[in-house]
Amino acid sequence: MTEKKYVLAIDQGTTSSRAILFSHEGRIVSTGQLEHEQIFPKAGWVEHDPMEIWQNVRKAVAEALSGAEVNRHEIAAVGITNQRETTVVWDKNTGEPIYNAIVWQDTRTDAICKELAGDEGPDKYKTRCGLPLATYFAGPKVKWILDNVPGAREKAEAGDLLMGTTDCWTLWNMTGGPNGGVHATDVTNASRTMLMDINTLEWREDICADMGIPMSMLPEIKSSSEVYGYGRKNGLLIDTPISGILGDQQAATFGQACFEKGMAKNTYGTGCFMLINTGNEAVVSENGLLTTVCYKIGDQETVYALEGSIAVAGSLVQWLRDNLGMIEKSEDIEDLAQSVKDNGGVYFVPAFSGLFAPYWKSDARGAIVGLTRFNNRGHIARAVLESTAYQTREVLDAMNADSGVALTELKVDGGMTNDELLMQFQADMLGVPVVRPEVAETTALGAAYAAGIAVGFWKGEEDVVANWKEGNRWEPKMDEEESSRKYRLWKKAVTRTFEWVD
Ligand code: G3P
Repeated sequence: MTEKKYVLAIDQGTTSSRAILFSHEGRIVSTGQLEHEQIFPKAGWVEHDPMEIWQNVRKAVAEALSGAEVNRHEIAAVGITNQRETTVVWDKNTGEPIYNAIVWQDTRTDAICKELAGDEGPDKYKTRCGLPLATYFAGPKVKWILDNVPGAREKAEAGDLLMGTTDCWTLWNMTGGPNGGVHATDVTNASRTMLMDINTLEWREDICADMGIPMSMLPEIKSSSEVYGYGRKNGLLIDTPISGILGDQQAATFGQACFEKGMAKNTYGTGCFMLINTGNEAVVSENGLLTTVCYKIGDQETVYALEGSIAVAGSLVQWLRDNLGMIEKSEDIEDLAQSVKDNGGVYFVPAFSGLFAPYWKSDARGAIVGLTRFNNRGHIARAVLESTAYQTREVLDAMNADSGVALTELKVDGGMTNDELLMQFQADMLGVPVVRPEVAETTALGAAYAAGIAVGFWKGEEDVVANWKEGNRWEPKMDEEESSRKYRLWKKAVTRTFEWVD
């Protein structure tokens, strides 16, 4: 038998799908990556083509394997991690989606959420599912598709339609699609639908009924680390076990080895997401954070987290590049921001999808404030980078308030952590050190670990801890008075975005 040397992680993200092959030491052996189209049919709407995503997953896996001249027999297991909440509804007989995937950033379900909230308000389901009613989550997106795609509701009621987030869509296709594909998801992804009971980890009939979602559409809820199925013909990686699934932010928390209560990480991707491990208790936030499942390894006890979700971080840099043409490549933002000594009084609140944590205001819209004739492109670039650091400070403040203990350092990862200026400013704004591991691809790594642990390739969490090595550290340097002044102005800028939609 060929020796199993690697674990493959598939990271189905918001802007691209990637495949990363990891060694037993948790090192990257090779990668494949393909971007997919961002479809914006109307203001506030964001869609992806699920078929393009599935084809890109296949190509990314082929690229990663051929890059290292590895064949499927050398792969011990596959882990899937994904952009969360993005929702696909498809016909189980043909495998065709009945509508594009509605992306987590999409705000079209605002009216649905308000109607569901009724007199009880947005926290109506919070104690049941851990989440406020907001456009971010999957359940209302399914309702929108069933309400708006001709014939969808009848087909759903006849049992012909399936729903899933993109982990579920990928797993179903890998394992054979219409020919016996496995329709399952993991607890972390299910905890982002609003349809799962945060304590029992089972679908809630009452919420599904309120949203008019037939239970037959829903995938089976599994742990984050167990064999869900095997690659099949017309799928991907024949006979290879698929044995780890974690939403991307939970995967990063796992890959960062945040296994103890009170340990937290912040991932700077399209958006920015901070999770703090709260142990086996589903803590209800008093400060605008989400209660979410952090991970569940096989039949071990469930580990929960509190999460601060920021909708726009890296995507603001892309917006500057693609919509304003102010930079050619995303990395160029750092030089442009360095061309000025500070933000020149400019604050940019990127409420493109409304505001997520800690505000949860769907009707907020973006604003650039504080402009004078003095300002130039450098100040805008600086305000763009700083906005991520201020939003992170707001989330950290909420976490400290909820937990009653102040975090003493923050583990970070994700693409934007390559930006020195941002990382230094982040440490200055938080007043605590910011630490990045040597392998900053912690999202893919976390999914790989979950998959590898299920098949015995890694022993367990102790291997993850042993492989985690500190890479960079940024210590706070700005004086307290200056950072407080900037933060105060940021808070003022945020209030200028409220209630913008008529
Ligand atoms: O909840 C949305 C999140 O999972 C998307 O992550 O990496 O695309 O910013 P990312």
